[in-house]
Amino acid sequence: MRETWVIGAASNRFGKMRETGREAATEVALAAIESAGIEPRQIGYTFVANAFGVAEHQAHVGPLINTGLGIPEVPSCTIESACSSSSAALHEAFVHVSGGFTDAALVVGSEKLSHLDTLAATSYFACGADYPFETKNGATFPGLYATLASTSQPAYATRPEMFGAIAVKNHANGARNPHAHFQKPISMETYLASPMIASPLRLYDCCPFSDGAAALVVAAKEATPSPAREPLVIRASARAGSIAGMHDRPDMLGLPATRAAAEIAYRQAKMTPRDIQFAEVHDCFTIAEALALEDLGFFPRGTGAKESFDGTTARDGRFPVNPSGGLKAKGHPVSATGAGQVVEIFEQFNGLAGARAVPHAEIALAHNVGATGGSCSVHIFSRR
Ligand SMILES: CC(C)(COP(=O)(O)OP(=O)(O)OC[C@H]1O[C@@H](n2cnc3c(N)ncnc32)[C@H](O)[C@@H]1OP(=O)(O)O)[C@@H](O)C(=O)NCCC(=O)NCCS
Repeated sequence: MRETWVIGAASNRFGKMRETGREAATEVALAAIESAGIEPRQIGYTFVANAFGVAEHQAHVGPLINTGLGIPEVPSCTIESACSSSSAALHEAFVHVSGGFTDAALVVGSEKLSHLDTLAATSYFACGADYPFETKNGATFPGLYATLASTSQPAYATRPEMFGAIAVKNHANGARNPHAHFQKPISMETYLASPMIASPLRLYDCCPFSDGAAALVVAAKEATPSPAREPLVIRASARAGSIAGMHDRPDMLGLPATRAAAEIAYRQAKMTPRDIQFAEVHDCFTIAEALALEDLGFFPRGTGAKESFDGTTARDGRFPVNPSGGLKAKGHPVSATGAGQVVEIFEQFNGLAGARAVPHAEIALAHNVGATGGSCSVHIFSRR
């Protein structure tokens, strides 16, 4: 396998986009290619993540993006893996580039849902669950993650303030991120007073519905030895799956796909959780961040939320988690989310993170989950 880098990255501000998903994808793709200091014609393959294009009456968006970039002859395909679509696209790009099938690949994730109301957006999202057993019986993602929360909360005596600490921390980080959907800090009082969405999850336990687009340029070191920016060396690109329907899982105190992807990633990178200096993890709900920190091996089972409460995972804590603001505050435009996590790490390593900079970071991990964990990606990056 060839050493493979992320040499360019760009994102728009998550939240509400005026542009269509396809227009936003083309804009961020061009910005990512420019940040890499290469020309669009050097791209050999475009991997697009776009789970809900049909909500805009637009599927098969890859050729449209490539046409906008002036490279219509370049092959493209759309990768769908629910909320982990663009990290799955990154994995495919890594496989192609490291395997020598192409020297440089574009990964672009884009989603626009803000023209839908909450009911319609919830119905579209719920298609990512197990339809006959979950969705058809009324389960939504807030409901499914509430089930995970109500399973682990009594098992570990997790207090609401512990989940609240995750929300407060991520909103504080989002307030420092110009890409973030929400750029306002919240207090614990605001968290505790927010309406119940699906017990025990309150409004501020939930990620919002966001539009957004993010793009990455993945290239072989030997083909682009001197990129314009500090590249991210891809030390691990791991994917794993698990039983999609939660009712069939033997264990609800974590996500098996995260544990499996993490094990592969640490093996590939020849690292342990102790080597990671900060992480962008999939906090679609606060319980998801708590479980991710445990499943990724950063903290013992049952202590993920408590570590946030104790300040360990703050931007200036011992182990910063979601310095971008995470899905909770930066936003969750489904197919742009995984690529957006890598944009954050690229900006951190390139001194572009401004007020949310994590000092002296050399090694970082990105964790992106599809739905309730039917699929999961874990990537580990280092500086050269
Ligand atoms: C939590 C949720 C139900 C709130 O939806 P809603 O009650 O219809 O809220 P609205 O869209 O009407 O927004 C009302 C206000 O709350 C804010 N808001 C909405 N969702 C928010 C969230 N998750 N966190 C913080 N604020 C939120 C809006 O910005 C708006 O603020 P404003 O009045 O100052 O403009 C919705 O955001 C949700 O379902 N989130 C989860 C999405 C999801 O499942 N993603 C997939 C994960 S696997």
